[in-house]
Amino acid sequence: MLNVIILAAGLGKRMQSDLPKVLHPIAGQPMLSHVLAAARALAPERIVVVVGHGAQRVQQAYAGQDLHFALQQPQQGTGHAVMQALPLLLEGDADDTSLVLYGDVPLVQAGTLQALLQARGQGLALLTETLDDPSGYGRIVRNAAGQVVRVVEHKDADDAERAIREVNTGILAAPTAALRRWLGQIDNRNAQGEYYLTDIVGLAVREGTPVAHAQPAAHWETLGVNSRVQQAQLERIWQGEQARCLLEQGVTLADPARFDLRGSLTCGRDVFIDVGCVFEGTVQLADGVRVGPHCVLRDARIGAGTVLDAFSHVEGAQVGDAARIGPYARLRPGADVGPEAHVGNFVELKKTRLGRGSKANHLAYLGDALIGERVNVGAGTITCNYDGVNKFQTVIEDDAFIGSDTQLVAPVRVGQGATLGAGTTLTRDAPAGELTLSRPRQQTVPGWKRPVRK
Ligand code: UD1
Ligand code: CA
Repeated sequence: MLNVIILAAGLGKRMQSDLPKVLHPIAGQPMLSHVLAAARALAPERIVVVVGHGAQRVQQAYAGQDLHFALQQPQQGTGHAVMQALPLLLEGDADDTSLVLYGDVPLVQAGTLQALLQARGQGLALLTETLDDPSGYGRIVRNAAGQVVRVVEHKDADDAERAIREVNTGILAAPTAALRRWLGQIDNRNAQGEYYLTDIVGLAVREGTPVAHAQPAAHWETLGVNSRVQQAQLERIWQGEQARCLLEQGVTLADPARFDLRGSLTCGRDVFIDVGCVFEGTVQLADGVRVGPHCVLRDARIGAGTVLDAFSHVEGAQVGDAARIGPYARLRPGADVGPEAHVGNFVELKKTRLGRGSKANHLAYLGDALIGERVNVGAGTITCNYDGVNKFQTVIEDDAFIGSDTQLVAPVRVGQGATLGAGTTLTRDAPAGELTLSRPRQQTVPGWKRPVRK
């Protein structure tokens, strides 16, 4: 039975923020969500989050999820924090394990945690690292035979102990029953007056429980966030990792250091992504897609060979194969651009289907519209879809030609092959194959003179 305990009660004073520290994001997701993702990959029977500062906001953020919360009030150390979780832990088989993680150590990976659980055997296992600069960390004290004896906190360590470069990352796995027993024996007689979780190591050794250790696959997995500076550093590390994975999959990134993924991005073969793009939610780019500089894509599907030019914004939309979007195009939720269609600069689509080969190249608003194939939408076309209360649909059938500066007052239909003259305000359906226009006849006033100043 696997329990995961996530410590998230700390104040995070150095963040200088009203938001609880573990809710601050990395790659668009709260730090705690990253830890939870790693935890869930282990399929634990129970996850207990120890909350304290901002407890309500943390609980609200995860309402309705498979989590249990323990309240630690006041915060008297990491050992004290784990004690609060004890009543919620599940036990029942010989393999009962409790894994301790930290809400502000967001980048730990499931593979590393698996290695730690494997190393544990029947005893206690610590995730440790050897650092060039170990200051601030708890040190792993070993005896002459090289066996772990105890962990000493930096503030309690003497000079010889401070010279030890092997440190405790804080992450550990223990048999659940033993964890209860050991936590019942620790006290707060130390430099910080806290109940140290790390004191269980000495107690385990005294009982003859084996103490194993494992190392993280990457150093950045165990980095914690105590300040905005560290948050920004971890953000860059994580973005660099994601960029590296995409490069290894064959995606071209114009500059891996100017790439931001805040969700999941799936790419086909030979995809090119220029600098400064942001990907959010779930984005799929098919084979040969080219994304120009400074595009934002959120929950989008882009078909093979399609080109998105600079500064395009695509959200909740899909685009077919071999289409051309942008520069400066905006596809809003429900936009569905067909294959070989063109959406040019300053054109906005919302809940609109633009059929195969149709073009809206300049300055248009197309909302709640069903547009057929090979339609030409002239510059300045606007679907007047909203009367202030209700939304109405515009239908434009195949091969229609919409003259520039046309307003389509919905609900309205333009028949197949119809032509609308420039400047038309269409309030009734336009018949197929005919020219329809609403335009006061042009006149010239002969001999008219401009007024002169009196
Ligand atoms: C802890 C370890 C130290 C290790 C270091 C790694 C102890 C006693 N020391 O030290 O060996 O090298 O982490 O970073 O465990 N927390 C609570 N409630 C509390 C206290 C802390 O939830 O009462 C949470 C904090 O929010 C934080 C985590 O536990 O997420 C670690 O606390 P922190 O004070 O940073 O521990 P360190 O002193 O750095
Ligand atoms: Ca710390």
